[in-house]
Amino acid sequence: MQMEKSSARDVPQQEVKGSVARDLFTSKLGVLAATLGSAVGLGNIWKFPYMTGTSGGAGFILVYILSVFLLGLPVLISEHAIGRTAAANPIDAFRKESKSKAPWWLIGTIGILGSFLILSFYTEVSGWVLAYIPKAIDGSIFTTDAAVTEGIFVSLITNPVTALVVQWLDLAIIGLIISLGISKGIERATKLLLPILVVLLVVVAIRSVTLPGASAGLEFLFRLDLSALTAPVILSAVGLAFFKLSTGMGVMMTYGSYFPKDLNIPNNAVKMALADMSIALLAGIAIFPAVFAMGIKPDAGPPLLFITIPTVFASMPFGQFFMIIFFVLSFIATIGAQVSLVEALVTFLQERVKMSRKVLTTVSIIALGAFGSMAALSSSTLADVKPFGLSFFDLFDFVSSNITLPIGGLFIALFAGWFWGKEKLFAALTNNGTLNNRGIVSALLVVLRFVTPVLLVIVFLHSLKII
Ligand code: TRP
Repeated sequence: MQMEKSSARDVPQQEVKGSVARDLFTSKLGVLAATLGSAVGLGNIWKFPYMTGTSGGAGFILVYILSVFLLGLPVLISEHAIGRTAAANPIDAFRKESKSKAPWWLIGTIGILGSFLILSFYTEVSGWVLAYIPKAIDGSIFTTDAAVTEGIFVSLITNPVTALVVQWLDLAIIGLIISLGISKGIERATKLLLPILVVLLVVVAIRSVTLPGASAGLEFLFRLDLSALTAPVILSAVGLAFFKLSTGMGVMMTYGSYFPKDLNIPNNAVKMALADMSIALLAGIAIFPAVFAMGIKPDAGPPLLFITIPTVFASMPFGQFFMIIFFVLSFIATIGAQVSLVEALVTFLQERVKMSRKVLTTVSIIALGAFGSMAALSSSTLADVKPFGLSFFDLFDFVSSNITLPIGGLFIALFAGWFWGKEKLFAALTNNGTLNNRGIVSALLVVLRFVTPVLLVIVFLHSLKII
């Protein structure tokens, strides 16, 4: 295996025997931008706030933070390590790296299928965000009357045509970025967008905490009350930790396969997790102080962003300006995350089918859109179809976050901790002994072998009411 010296200008290529040269990320900063761009998304701006709102605030946040460090981060580092070592899509990475006959590649397969599940509802919610930008600009959602914003939101989601149009428009934007490739598309887009996102979010957060009565929102976010921590709340915090870090299904393995050989993986992963968590908290600070200042309840659930938030903006000075900024930044946040989910599928196809990246991207987008239409239509045409009592939208969301990601995470931890081999893990994470990471990797190994799997199994059994 050979890799040319990477520089910011030329695209480094990695020769993998028997397959096409792989386009790699060009720098440390590029990797951080792309991985953080994947992590930051609707998870920060939509899920984290609404789940915190319905789950009692600080207690939920504490479990989420613990889950990030004890469950999400170890799995994330393993994914990066396996991905870079194998230099292949998740299915072939497991095939290459597992010595036994056990079907470890199934984890990769579940991952690829998982990206269909996640993208089905993700592209729809991103489409709603997209649709809210012109509504914020023309002022149609600029009202303090929640009945009006609710009416607008409901008509958006119950009209099958608009629901599909916004979803497909969103997918087309993602497809365009993906078709440009890893370094010229994904790396460039995320490097450009992330700083804009953070600056805009800070602006909205400052507005929010300086409103009279904002302190009640900060108290909600930071004053610990453990009484709300029921089993489903804990499971959802664990699921959110995986969802937030984009880990547990091979998306991060795919990105790892594009890492330069000299990248310090644990260092990048820790930076990424801390930055992502800060952005989630920042979104909480942008939202809850304002929600409480306006005397609104924080527990609206998924419609929080679309029904509650506009009325909050409409109640504050210069509200329309901040509302436009808020929906623009939210859409920006969704881009890097969606790109990573689609890339897992495109990388897999590219390594299996001899067709151009553009064609394979188009095929993927069409397939994802077709599957995703089930979620998009779940409030209109398919409103009466309720497998397991849930709409397709809720079902795909629930199954991906609460089942496939934690189970994927469990098996990735078991694979990296027990089956891959200590030497391989050390070699991958110390760059063959050239990095001074041995202490960290030894600690990680203990966590991967014992802490992560045991905690995940306990959470599962607990949520199934077995213990
Ligand atoms: N992390 C993203 C968010 O918070 C979602 C996401 C992107 C994701 N890629 C993923 C979730 C892979 C699970 C797996 O919005």
